[in-house]
Amino acid sequence: MIRKYSYGVPYDTEAVVGAYEIGMDLPSWLTVEEEGRRFSCLLAEEEQVFGLGEQVRGMNKRGWRYVSWCSDDPYHLETARSLYGAHNFLMITSPDRTVGLFVEDPGRVTFDVGYTRRDRLTIETEGDGTALYLIEGGGPLEVAKMFRQLIGRSYIPPRWAFGYGQSRWSYFSAGEVKAVAEEYRKAGIPLDMIYLDIDYMESYKDFTVNGETFPDLGALAAELKEQGVRLVPIIDAGVKVEEGYPVYEEGVQKGYFCENEDGTPFTGAVWPGWVHFPDVLNPAARAWFGDWYRVLLDRGIEGFWNDMNEPAIFYSRARLDALEGERRDAVAAGKPAREALASLQEPVKQLSNRLEDYRSFWHNTPAGRLRHDKVHNLYGGSMTRAAGEAFVRYAPDKRLLLFSRSSYIGSHRYGGIWTGDNYSWWSHLLLNLKMMPGLNLCGFLYTGADLCGFGGDTTEDLMLRWMALGVFLPLMRNHSAMGTRRQELYRYPESRKAFGEMVKLRYRLLPYLYSEFMKAALRDELYARPLAFLFPEDPMAREVEDQLFIGESIMIAPVYTQNAGGRYVYLPERMKLVRFRTAETWEEEVLDKGHHYIPVALDEVVFFLREGHLVPLSDGGGCVEAVTADRLTLLAFGEGAAYEFYWDDGVGVDYEAPEHFKWLHAGTSGEVFHEYPGD
Ligand code: GLC
Repeated sequence: MIRKYSYGVPYDTEAVVGAYEIGMDLPSWLTVEEEGRRFSCLLAEEEQVFGLGEQVRGMNKRGWRYVSWCSDDPYHLETARSLYGAHNFLMITSPDRTVGLFVEDPGRVTFDVGYTRRDRLTIETEGDGTALYLIEGGGPLEVAKMFRQLIGRSYIPPRWAFGYGQSRWSYFSAGEVKAVAEEYRKAGIPLDMIYLDIDYMESYKDFTVNGETFPDLGALAAELKEQGVRLVPIIDAGVKVEEGYPVYEEGVQKGYFCENEDGTPFTGAVWPGWVHFPDVLNPAARAWFGDWYRVLLDRGIEGFWNDMNEPAIFYSRARLDALEGERRDAVAAGKPAREALASLQEPVKQLSNRLEDYRSFWHNTPAGRLRHDKVHNLYGGSMTRAAGEAFVRYAPDKRLLLFSRSSYIGSHRYGGIWTGDNYSWWSHLLLNLKMMPGLNLCGFLYTGADLCGFGGDTTEDLMLRWMALGVFLPLMRNHSAMGTRRQELYRYPESRKAFGEMVKLRYRLLPYLYSEFMKAALRDELYARPLAFLFPEDPMAREVEDQLFIGESIMIAPVYTQNAGGRYVYLPERMKLVRFRTAETWEEEVLDKGHHYIPVALDEVVFFLREGHLVPLSDGGGCVEAVTADRLTLLAFGEGAAYEFYWDDGVGVDYEAPEHFKWLHAGTSGEVFHEYPGD
């Protein structure tokens, strides 16, 4: 059952699809104070809290105070309160009851999940109105599904977006990009995407291409596509202030940028220097900005990543002027120039992403003119929406790839997300795994982290372990920052073969991973599930934070510590261990329920198969389009294992056609054999 409660004058974020009656009586376990600005309830000792999407810490969110406030914070430390997304849904669950709470509020929302008091959840809002949705009925899987039905179907990318992608901030020319594709080909490692970071643009101006370094982007895209590789360029939120640049000039002329209080465009600084931010909360401006993607779509581009859309502001004019004022005051007060400058070091560090700046510009929203901080969390997701809506106008029958850094619940219908600037740290490999269920609960199915780590120098063993996790995640992209150690897989002669086998295995697993993704999207279910959701009665399973079910058949338990030759794994039931040494060969071993030490060599990928289930494997391919479902190898555990297989053309939008669903059955002895199509 879903009940809606309304306090003050809530802003309609359009997160929810459909209309809900406003309930009157709150259940007795939930207290509301301060006219809807504070909600609280007791948490019983055995209750766990899941959700909140892109956040630090565990799958079980108990024991920290989280703040929904989209933030450009590259450190993702345990002490962080906010990351790039604002995902205001959580679920309280124990074997006795499960309830879901969704706080529809576009401003700052604080979730104190047993932080101030271990036995209390307190949610605080700061805006002029909040809508609260309460979901009750059934266990975690049912509540999760009800919530997802409330917020509408998750974004579905084209199938090629499930391939492996190589990215790096600093592919400076077409030649360099071609060389990356060439090296992958030479190494025999499948590849579907090369991402273009801001380096392809002219002076970091959106919807421009640097004519010297990328003289013919259309030709480059076509040449690479011939090889099965798509180019996926970045688009940033800020539009460079520059006379003669049409996006800037048109935006100013139409009044489509975020405004200062006096109506002039607000100016901040990001990569291009001074920029204006398109007012994507204004439907007309959103349509206008979305239409600009055509410049690249018309050159054969079929996918984008939207960045810096919290929006990140390195500094504003006002902040810079204030700083200069402070320097002048210090000099006037007789401080030597050098000392005056030194005293500014701290203030300089504090220049970025300031609340004062977010309080100084305005949007023209359907609900009237609103100050940015009141609707801050909608900005990045609305940029995704701008692109997503434009893609439907441009190519209604075709799926395009789109994912974003910043997001809110609601924007999950328009694009996926990546989890931003992580580090090449072992702790971030684990964080990648831990974030998955929260993201899925909040509607983000097409998601993943920068594999092998974005910031800092990676290590070969971290890359191997991280890739072994990446094999199972929808967005499988290796991305790294300029100046860090290079992370292209072919650069590591000792591990090149192992990397190749892992990526090939991904393509062999594609029929399974894609089926599971599509079924999860079409049925509002989870792709990645914690053990607690499937075995709520098992106290051991409930506490597992470093293993995940990927779809219905597979459990993964990646190794995430350096110099470890394996790890302990908890099996909540009898399962079949499947160990891939190469993409072609594997070993199987049936293990009983309980704890097991599982040795896993650096070049191996291991997963656990549920009894009565199976995994269809393809013959693989050098790119997703080369993978067919004409011949499937069924990797099964148990007699009569059956599987509902989904396969369509991978690019169209006729998702529900009955011919896309087929039943596959393992042989009576459960051995591996070939069969397709089944019935
Ligand atoms: C931001 C993005 C990162 C990108 C960089 C340069 O930090 O999160 O992925 O590489 O900007 O565009």
